[in-house]
Amino acid sequence: MSKDTLSVTDNRTGRSYELPVSEGTIRAMDLRQIKTSDDDFGLMTYDPAFMNTASCRSAITFIDGERGILRYRGYPIEQLAERASFLEVSYLLIHGELPTREELDRWIEEVRYHTYVHTNITKFLEGFRYDAHPMGMLLGAVGALSTFYPDAKHIHDPANRHLQMVRLLAKLPTIAAFAFRHSRGLPFVFPDNGLDYIGNYVNMTFSIGGRHQPNKVLQRALEILLILHADHEQNCSTSAVRSVGSSHVDPFSAVSAGIAALYGPLHGGANEAVLLMLDEIGEKKNIPAFIETVKQGSDRLMGFGHRVYKSYDPRATLVKKVAYEVFEQTGLNPKLEIALELERIALEDEYFIKRKLYPNVDFYSGLIYQAMGYPTDYFTVLFAIGRTPGWLAQWQEMLLDKDQKISRPRQIYIGEGKREFVPIERR
Ligand code: ACO
Repeated sequence: MSKDTLSVTDNRTGRSYELPVSEGTIRAMDLRQIKTSDDDFGLMTYDPAFMNTASCRSAITFIDGERGILRYRGYPIEQLAERASFLEVSYLLIHGELPTREELDRWIEEVRYHTYVHTNITKFLEGFRYDAHPMGMLLGAVGALSTFYPDAKHIHDPANRHLQMVRLLAKLPTIAAFAFRHSRGLPFVFPDNGLDYIGNYVNMTFSIGGRHQPNKVLQRALEILLILHADHEQNCSTSAVRSVGSSHVDPFSAVSAGIAALYGPLHGGANEAVLLMLDEIGEKKNIPAFIETVKQGSDRLMGFGHRVYKSYDPRATLVKKVAYEVFEQTGLNPKLEIALELERIALEDEYFIKRKLYPNVDFYSGLIYQAMGYPTDYFTVLFAIGRTPGWLAQWQEMLLDKDQKISRPRQIYIGEGKREFVPIERR
């Protein structure tokens, strides 16, 4: 009869062990009993970059990377992108269930109530250089919010956690819009709470002299993009939020760590890197030469490849669809042609096929953001607004998980053995 255990024989000692297998995993701590002698520390696993280690049990997001499936709390991403609002999805991620009409109305009102930031935050942002990267501004300002809300340290109080999560969801777009205005030397536009979440953000970003003609198609397109980015289980930035949050710091500090992780070009910064790559390629005729440099390893095809998806990223399919809806409003982004041709060539090329490299969510999103009027270095800020509910849901889940402790990996020490200090004149 089959048993849910793993039998391990340690060939160093000849001893055998039976380890429980649960949910397709063994507990790394169960390996610690495997020792060659009493003073041996015990066996560990070596897993740089967490290639095969589950760091938590989570009920938030499900991904099947082989089959290109993504679900939030069980709901397929395609259905949420088509039918839900961003705040509805945020509620779902954080609370675990879709809100009733009444719950949603209350949630929207709560978020609306907290959209303003302390005016000192505007002074803080004004202090940045004119060419400061908007992600740098965002991560600095969100970290600084912890100084405005010292009560946020009461992370074990459910009502307090709720308040801080609402604050973060409400204030992120305000700070993001301020960062945009600062980069352009434009005065800040304060929240207009007569507008909805997306409308308010777009107005704070683009309004000049109180005039902004809202385009409902573009606003819905932006909302869909935020929904597609809202969570993605244990990605780099979410792991950063969980890891930093596991020290029991306040959520503003933990989320600013997530923003820092997202900033990198291998993560959220990839949407910016895709546009830079398309600019560099310049014309369709340069694509084959560019693909060659990628295959030789001197470049990466940005917006391609994913740690988890080994087939088409389902978000990329949806983003591509949104792109055409947006371009109907704004006119075609000329770089689309280069992107489509790059995708076509890459999907037929042995190098990419063998490594299962497909477009990810960032391959087309930058083209849309650019068509909407956002500058390249601002794209990742939009990703951060979208990812905030996911970070918060994961942060709270981590805090409530009895299995979790302060995040603290082990290492294999490979440095020098003990040696005597050498005075500087003898070195
Ligand atoms: N272009 C060319 N080759 C690639 C690419 C790429 N974009 N991505 C992976 N490869 C190659 C690697 O060189 C490696 O080849 P090898 O086996 O010959 O050494 C192989 O594919 C496996 O790649 P890894 O780097 O081991 O894969 P990993 O899971 O560590 O990396 C990552 C995933 C970081 C996303 C990677 O695919 C990448 O750098 N992509 C470009 C950046 C990007 O688009 N990031 C956005 C990710 S989605 C997101 O964060 C929202």
